[in-house]
Amino acid sequence: MHSCGKGRLPVSTDRRKLDHIRICLSEEVEAGASGFEDVVLIHSALPEVDLEKVRLETRFLGRRIAMPVFIAAMTGGHEEARKINENLALAAQELDIPLGVGSQRAAIEDERLADTFSVARKVAPEAYLIANLGAVQFSKGYSVKHAEKAIDMISADAIALHLNPLQEACQKEGDTSFEGAGEAIAELCEALDVPVIVKETGAGIAAEEAALLQEAGVSAIDVGGAGGTSFALVESYRGGELGRRFASWGIPTAVSVVECSASVDVPVFATGGVRSGVDVAKAIALGASACGIALPLLRHAVRDSESVVRALRRVECELRVAAFLTGSRSVEELSRARHVILGRTREWLEARGILR
Ligand SMILES: Cc1cc2nc3c(=O)[nH]c(=O)nc-3n(C[C@H](O)[C@H](O)[C@H](O)COP(=O)(O)O)c2cc1C
Repeated sequence: MHSCGKGRLPVSTDRRKLDHIRICLSEEVEAGASGFEDVVLIHSALPEVDLEKVRLETRFLGRRIAMPVFIAAMTGGHEEARKINENLALAAQELDIPLGVGSQRAAIEDERLADTFSVARKVAPEAYLIANLGAVQFSKGYSVKHAEKAIDMISADAIALHLNPLQEACQKEGDTSFEGAGEAIAELCEALDVPVIVKETGAGIAAEEAALLQEAGVSAIDVGGAGGTSFALVESYRGGELGRRFASWGIPTAVSVVECSASVDVPVFATGGVRSGVDVAKAIALGASACGIALPLLRHAVRDSESVVRALRRVECELRVAAFLTGSRSVEELSRARHVILGRTREWLEARGILR
């Protein structure tokens, strides 16, 4: 039971995940601002670039991928999720971009659910797949073996450990003891054979925590910032009144990308409110290596894989045009694109001493 005394309810992990999907498909679950609205890429009237020759391929933890975009972790663990993961994985395979599956905890606890995740590897034999477990589980008894089980389940190329203190605090049945989570992350980084990504889930990561994570040995940090899906809000639809108060809590994604890039050398990924190829271009110019998109792909994934592919092709097209208009021939050049940071995002970064 957490300190707000709402009590622990006996809700199974797979049931909760199903609630999340249904709420995300039917309710307004986005809150706050990602900060990308404050970032302006400087237009080049003389780009000296052929739009058709802009190269979007890049490297993702050592693997070549077609563009700096990945499908962020969403689901698995129940029947409805199998189809979603299948459609997302088919799209990842076709587009040659990475895919993160949702938390595999349900399948660690009940092996019969494993194929709702492993379907991703079945239909996407070549895609870069990212396993997923909550870091908090490792301060509550999970060990290296559990992480290895999650990795083996989908023959993953990497594992993401998610940090979700806001969600857990707003969840009636939340796991709210994060004591020892940092140490557990360091242990996993040391023991596992695949890269460890640590990701937030919508509240962002500040410079100080990014430095601690780098110290712990993580291979990449996904800021999972505020301004997109708010899990506080999602939980509020499950009856967690507290969630409404914390709907826009967190570090906006654009701010978090600048904070993390300023304090670590490992790749920084931008997830949270990335809604277009222009947002991707802005994130890259701010220091991100790649961007994750979750919520906007969900409604396509419940339909079919072609719909997911079309949505991501639009992002690709927008990213290509944004690169062209900044005079960038490649993702590498885009990372140096001229830009200005205005408004609240600038104020935030100045107040934190990161921008002057
Ligand atoms: C329906 C849904 C389920 C999610 N489940 C997980 C999860 O199991 N593990 C995780 O690390 N992140 C999970 N996330 C968080 C996303 O990976 C991402 O960090 C967050 O949604 C912000 O991106 P967005 O604004 O593009 O949705 C989930 C997101 C959604 C929308």
